[in-house]
Amino acid sequence: MSEPLFEVEDLHVALPDPNNTKLFGPTPMIGILHGVNLRIEEGTVVGVVGESGSGKSTLGRTLVRLIEPVRGTIRFSGNDITHTDERLLRPLRRDLQVIFQDPLSALNPRLTIGTIIGRPLMLHRLAAGRKDARRQAEAALEMVGLPTAFASRYPHELSGGQRQRVGIARAIATRPRFVLADEIVSGLDVSSQAQILALLDRLRNELGLTIVFISHDLSVVRRLCDRVVVLRRGEVLENRPTGPLFDHPEHPYTAELKAAIPLPEVDEGWLDAAR
Ligand SMILES: Nc1ncnc2c1ncn2[C@@H]1O[C@H](COP(=O)(O)OP(=O)(O)O)[C@@H](O)[C@H]1O
Ligand SMILES: [Mg+2]
Repeated sequence: MSEPLFEVEDLHVALPDPNNTKLFGPTPMIGILHGVNLRIEEGTVVGVVGESGSGKSTLGRTLVRLIEPVRGTIRFSGNDITHTDERLLRPLRRDLQVIFQDPLSALNPRLTIGTIIGRPLMLHRLAAGRKDARRQAEAALEMVGLPTAFASRYPHELSGGQRQRVGIARAIATRPRFVLADEIVSGLDVSSQAQILALLDRLRNELGLTIVFISHDLSVVRRLCDRVVVLRRGEVLENRPTGPLFDHPEHPYTAELKAAIPLPEVDEGWLDAAR
């Protein structure tokens, strides 16, 4: 078997307990992830589902090392990044991009779209200068189906769907190997959702991206993801190819999640139709 892009073993994550703040002594921590094991093959889209508070975002943020685990191992492309400090992580950051749920709060309102997309390119020295960064930002806009003229606009001038495309453009501009997408279609209407999903599906094919796609909405995950990881209270209950997982959930909790969400019987062509 080829080397996976991510290899996670016995991952334990704890965060400061917000209900128990002490003035003195060590901050009380609360366990969020309890022994997660995960292999993510390069070029695949892995869905992470589970009810609110199950630890989906914490898992995603730990993968891209916005959070340091307390125990276990995270290997990215063979490199152990479990406890690597931020300075040493910096060269890897271009390969580990994140698209956030709410693009309005994730995009600096005072910067033009061109600057927002171009900044990471300057930061990682992937652009020869401002002009080159601008040119690459425009290319990224084209890749996500937005007019290059949007480079001169500001976030508030765009619709929700367009802003989420900008979030995607910024994430792919550095040509990363991995993108974390955390609830990125949750705030959008159904037709914008379909368009964003179709876009991600196209980009994954064109760029060979590996994506972790977090969603509480199983109908969304079903169409885009190759595999689905079901999380409950910080533990992985199932991790299987999407089709079999939906057709024959192994765990009662997966069946419950499936039953809780109205799954429209979508016809096979809808993703293409949305393109
Ligand atoms: N910064 C934080 N500090 C302490 N606890 C947190 C923090 N963020 C999330 N939590 C808690 O961790 C658990 C998992 O949260 P999260 O990973 O955001 O779940 P999900 O994304 O599945 O909704 C929840 O119980 C939540 O209250
Ligand atoms: Mg979350």
